[in-house]
Amino acid sequence: MSDEFQKRVEDAIKNPKNMGEMADADSIGTVGSANCGDMLRVWLKYKEDGGRKVIDKASFQSFGCETAIAAASLAMELIRGKTAEEAMTMSGEELAADLGPLPPTKVHCTSLVENALRDALAPKPEQSDAAPTATQLQSNSNLMDDFTESSRKKGGVKLVFLDEDSEKKA
Ligand code: FES
Repeated sequence: MSDEFQKRVEDAIKNPKNMGEMADADSIGTVGSANCGDMLRVWLKYKEDGGRKVIDKASFQSFGCETAIAAASLAMELIRGKTAEEAMTMSGEELAADLGPLPPTKVHCTSLVENALRDALAPKPEQSDAAPTATQLQSNSNLMDDFTESSRKKGGVKLVFLDEDSEKKA
């Protein structure tokens, strides 16, 4: 890993932005990496802006490496003001562009961010204007709580594990 890349990661995680769960989120996405076992959850809140539905706030929690945290921090800033469709077109590399060129061993870290974001951005049948369901409210809990609960009783967390092929393509 180059010194320059490491310094950019360290700068980004010194003061990570938008870290933590969001109680009033409109949408949530959670993924895990089959590569390293790390997990990331993204919360999104939308607002109307000139007739467009754009991302007002985005936050994340991570059980992941420094690169994933740095990339998520940068990505949450970058997607603000974009529509879901616009944000959906952004690759992990674009979301973490400020980190500079990624070492090959760290590409999957930005894929984790991209895929958690895509999971949150994707329209879900149960996400309508109706009040959130009990399942949705449960999945809006803290990632650590879900992980702990999942360990206690298997199947407690909604987690999409990416296979290595999908991470390489991302
Ligand atoms: Fe797993 Fe970076 S090493 S996300």
